[in-house]
Amino acid sequence: MTLDNYTYKVTAAGRVNIIGEHVDYCGGKVMPCALSLKCAVYVRANGQDRINAEWTTLDEKVSLELNDLYAYKAHSYAKYIAGSAYFWRQAGHKVVGCDILVDCKVPFGSGLSSSAAIEVSVIAALATVAGEPFDKAEVAQIAQKAEIEFAGVNCGIMDQYASACGRKNHAMLLDCKSLDCEYVPMELGKYSLVLIDSCKPHSLAESKYNERRAETEEALRLLRQKSDVSCLADVSPSQLEDNKDLLPAIIYKRAKHVVDECERVRFTSVALKNGYIAAVGAALSASHRSLSENYEVTGVELDALARLAQSHPACSGSRMTGAGFGGCTVSLVETDKISEFEDYVLTGYKKQIGYDAKIYKADISDGITVKKL
Ligand code: GLA
Repeated sequence: MTLDNYTYKVTAAGRVNIIGEHVDYCGGKVMPCALSLKCAVYVRANGQDRINAEWTTLDEKVSLELNDLYAYKAHSYAKYIAGSAYFWRQAGHKVVGCDILVDCKVPFGSGLSSSAAIEVSVIAALATVAGEPFDKAEVAQIAQKAEIEFAGVNCGIMDQYASACGRKNHAMLLDCKSLDCEYVPMELGKYSLVLIDSCKPHSLAESKYNERRAETEEALRLLRQKSDVSCLADVSPSQLEDNKDLLPAIIYKRAKHVVDECERVRFTSVALKNGYIAAVGAALSASHRSLSENYEVTGVELDALARLAQSHPACSGSRMTGAGFGGCTVSLVETDKISEFEDYVLTGYKKQIGYDAKIYKADISDGITVKKL
C-alpha cells in the first residue's frame, strides 16, 4: 500500500463529548471537542464511474459503482463510503470517480466516533477531488444521513458536526436544533482531559441506542398532550415534574435524564467560561450518574471506570462519553498527577472487570483539514 500519486489528504476528527449526552436528538445543546485522533482519506481522480476504496486497517479493496451506490447499504465497512457518496450526490453535489485510501486512526468501537470521522472525511475528500468548495456544516448533515440510513443508527448531529467543524483547543457549544455553534476555549487550568476505553466488546449498541431515541420521542408525544413544547430539550425540570403523571415510569426516567442533562450543559458552559473547573468536574460526574440510573446506557464496565476515576483525589469528575454501552470515559484530572491516576484506574479496572482498559492520548484539534499532496 503506497501513498504515492494521491492528490489530496483530507482528514476529519474523532470526538469526545464533554457533556450533553443523549440530548442532541432531543434538540438540546451539546459540548463536544474534535480530537487529534483522526481519519485521513487520500484521494485521486480515476476517470472511471467508480470509487475504488482501500483501507490501511483492512486487507481488502472494494470498487463501488457510482450509479449503484445504494446497493452497498449492507456492506460491513464499504457502507460508510457508499452512504456518504450516495447522499452527497443526492444533495446535488458532483461526485467523480476516484481512488481513495482510508487511514482511520480513531479507534473502532471506542465511542469516539470513528464512523462519523470516516463519513465526514470521505465527503470532504469527494468534494475536494471534484473541485467543489464545501460547507463543513452541510458535510456534517449529509454524513449524519449516511449514518442513519446506511449504518442503521438513528443518531443525532453531534458526532458528525464535531468531526467536521471542531476547532483546536476549543469545545463547541452546539445547539442541535438551530446548529448555532459557539466555540468555548478549553482552558482547564491545572487540569487535563483523560480518555480511557473500557474495551467492552460492543453488542446490540445500535438497537439499544435506537430504543432510547424512540423512548424520548414517546416522552415528547405524551407531554405534548398538555403542553406545547417542540422538543424534549425545551421542557424545564419543573414542567416535567408537573406532568409526571402523563408518563410511564421508564419513559419518565428517560425524559428526566434529558431535561436534567440540558440543565447541566448550561451550568457547565458557564463554569468553563469562568474557569470553575471543579464545578465542571462535578457536572461530569452527575451526568454519568444520570446516564447510569435514569438513561441506563452505561453498564458495569463504564460504571466501574467512572467510579474508580471519581474516587481518585486528583480527579475532579468523570463520565462516560458518546452513546454508551461500552466505549470511553472522559475524566478531568490534575495534569501533574495523570500517570498516578492512570495506574490507579487501570489496576482497579482489571481487578474488577477482569480485562484491561486502555488510555488514549489525544489533543483537542481541528475538524476537517485538506492538504494538496
Ligand atoms: C452517539 C450518536 C450521537 C449522540 C451520542 C449520545 O454518539 O451518534 O448523535 O446521540 O451517541 O450523546
